[in-house]
Formats: sequence, structure tokens, C-alpha cells
Amino acid sequence: MPWLDWLSLFVRWFHVIAGIAWIGASFYFVWLDNSLESPPEWKKQKGIKGDLWAVHGGGFYEVAKYAYGPEAMPKNLHWFKWEAYSTWLSGFALLIIVYYFAASAYLIDPSVMAMSEAEAITRGLSLLAGGVLLYELACRTPLANYPKLFAVAFIALLVVASYLATQWFSGRGAYIHIGALIGSIMVANVWLNIMPAQRKMVDAVAAKKPVNPAWGAGAKLRSVHNNYLTLPILFIMISNHYPMTYQHPQNWLVLVAIMALSAWIRHFFNLRHVGKFSPGVLISGAVGLLLVALWVSWPQLRTAETSTISSKPAASTINTAQTDDSMSELDKQVLTIVTTHCQGCHASNPTDQIFKVAPLGVKFDNWQQIQRQAPQLVHRTTVTRDMPFLNKTNMTDAERDTIAQWGRQQ
Ligand code: HEC
Repeated sequence: MPWLDWLSLFVRWFHVIAGIAWIGASFYFVWLDNSLESPPEWKKQKGIKGDLWAVHGGGFYEVAKYAYGPEAMPKNLHWFKWEAYSTWLSGFALLIIVYYFAASAYLIDPSVMAMSEAEAITRGLSLLAGGVLLYELACRTPLANYPKLFAVAFIALLVVASYLATQWFSGRGAYIHIGALIGSIMVANVWLNIMPAQRKMVDAVAAKKPVNPAWGAGAKLRSVHNNYLTLPILFIMISNHYPMTYQHPQNWLVLVAIMALSAWIRHFFNLRHVGKFSPGVLISGAVGLLLVALWVSWPQLRTAETSTISSKPAASTINTAQTDDSMSELDKQVLTIVTTHCQGCHASNPTDQIFKVAPLGVKFDNWQQIQRQAPQLVHRTTVTRDMPFLNKTNMTDAERDTIAQWGRQQ
């Protein structure tokens, strides 16, 4: 499916660019807001409540934040919304291209829960819609007036969502759905709350009417939520390169721990912007992440040690795939090829010296798994030919031809 790969490349590229613009703008404005100083008297009289000077790119900038709004509407007012919308739109397109077009390979893992592609996609979309809805409802209850309590409720929502997703989907599929949920909450905050509040403010200024401070305060709250979600969502965006996280038996807990700790680390920077230097927050966050790493990889570090002592992996970790009568001759040849050339890395217990966890969660432990992932298997061995990885296992052209022939029959 080369065209799908190209589509995936362009959309992913765009998504990263848009995401940088969005999160970059978010970081900048949170920093700006937290760094404002009390302005001199003459500025105060103009209604300015925050004053800031900066130097960047060879020029001085003077920024002023109004307590309510300027006296008259400026000719050009910059809004920051397309960064958010285009990030979400491209992210959603990617979810469809990568996970929904190839649901049986990437989203469904029968060892977690067997289901049809349609069911997996329905569950995925329901998780997203349900999560956004619950968050929106919670924001409209008095809970929103107690930031700490709200944080607890919000974490509880993400814990439940993470747990459900990992009980339904492949590890990767589950993680990306939590990322999509967070991204959807963030964009809903912009679209349904921050933008309407700003429109009201702008209309009031244009009509020379007083600006209701509650509008801005509500929008500010959503903006703060988004700020704390930036580091967790960035982790999820890169997590598919790190199967030790999403392949862990308690992968939901690994995800929740990393999300919570990274939001905590974000807190350090928010405090620092307002002049509070709290190294304890940063240090405890970093130590927490180290503990997560130790917890996740400690058993493997120990097996790695023992296997260097015995120099060979334990026999029980070698996977032997079983044949059965319903398999054709060609099927059996492919099974043998995959067993020799792929299983060293792509197995529940890889025997490879470097890859201790199945790369990208791709496992070929048995014939069912091989069949389920046939399109990817054929593509990577006969079209892109980047598998076996660096051809570490010396796969021959004749073997690739056999796989190609088998692929045409699939
Ligand atoms: C030495 C280890 C190793 C061996 C052997 C190996 N792979 Fe891989 N495989 C990897 C790594 C590492 C990645 C992840 C590459 C990346 O991050 O893009 C990968 C990725 C893949 C993917 C892509 C998954 C995705 O979601 O994009 C497929 C499919 C795959 N391998 C199939 C195979 C097949 C088929 C074989 C045997 C012919 C094989 N691999 C042999 C290490 C290996």
C-alpha cells in the first residue's frame, strides 16, 4: 500500500508542524502571561495590567496585556486558532490512516480482545466522544471552581480511559487513543470555550460595552488545562517508538504514571514563570520517571545480565511456531522463513541481544499473528525490504520471492 504510506507521511509531517505551532504558541502565551509585570502608572491609566519587554531575533518587543480590553478595536487582531484546529484535523486523519485503515494489524490484538474491525473502530470513537463529553460536563459543574479537586477528577477520567483502552486494543492502539482523547479535549477547549469567550470580549470592545471578567477567567481555566496536557500528549505522540511502555503487562499504569509525572514537571515551569523556583517539583518528577523506568525494565535488566553469563538465551524464551494440516506447502515455507528471520525480534519474548521487547509491538509468535499482519509483513520484506532489520538474519532474495508469492495469494 505505497500510496497509503505516502499519505501517512505527508499527513504526519503536517501534523507535527501544526502541533509545534500550537504547542509552541501555547508555551509562549503561558510564559508571557506568567511573566507580566506591573506596568508604570501611565500604562495603568490606559487600562494595561501587565507589562513585558523582550528581545528576540534582533529586535525589542513591548507587550501589554489589558485588564479588560482596549478602548477601541485595533484594525488587525491576531487570533490563534488554526494551529489548534489543523493539529486536531491532521491528527484525526492520521488516526484513520494508520489505525483504522489497518485496524486488524495495528488496533486489534486478539491476545487482548478479539473483535471485528468495525467494532474496534466503534469502540475507539466512542471512547473519544465519551471522554470529551465527560470532561465538558465536569467543567460545567461547581467542581471547576476547585482546581485541585478538579485535577483529581480529571486524572481519574484519564485512568479509567487508559484502563479501558488497554483492555480493548493493542498497546499502541490504546496509547494513541488516549493521545487522541487528550488532543480532542484540548481542541474542544479552544473551539467551544476559549474562542466563544474571546468573541464575546471582542464584540463588547467593538460595541464599547464593558467586558465581563468571567468570560476571560473561564477561557483562562481551559487554557491552563491545555497547558498541563502538553507534555503528556507529546509523550504519547512519540511513545510508539518505545514498545517497553505500551507492551508492558500493566501498560495502562505506565501510561498514567508518565502522564501524571510529566504534567507535574510542567507545573515546575509554570511556577518558575511566576517567579517561584521549586526545584522539589522538578526533582520529584524526574525521580518518579526514573522509578517508572526501573519498574518497567528491571526484570529485563536482570534477564539481560543472566543471559550474558550463560551467553545464550534460555530455551524457554525461544518460540516454536506450530504447523497444522490446513496449511498449504507455501504457508509452511513462509512460517519457516518468519520463524528463522523475524522471531528473534518480533516475538513475545525476543531472543535478540538488543531488542528485548517486540519492536513496535509487532509479534509473529504463531500463524494467526502472521496471517493477521500479512500485508505489513509482505510490504516490509518485499517492497521496502527494510525487514529483517538491517538484514541481521541474512534473508535471501529467494526467501523474499517466496513471501511475495504468498502475499499475492492473500
Ligand atoms: C533485529 C531485529 C529485527 C528483526 C530480525 C526483524 N525486525 Fe521487524 N522491526 C524491527 C525494528 C527495530 C522495527 C521498528 C522500526 C521502526 O521503528 O521504524 C521493526 C518494524 C517492523 C515492522 C513495522 C511495524 C510498523 O508498525 O511499522 C514490520 C511489519 C516488521 N518489522 C516485520 C518484520 C518481518 C516480517 C521480519 C522478518 C522477515 C522482521 N521484521 C525482522 C526489528 C526487527
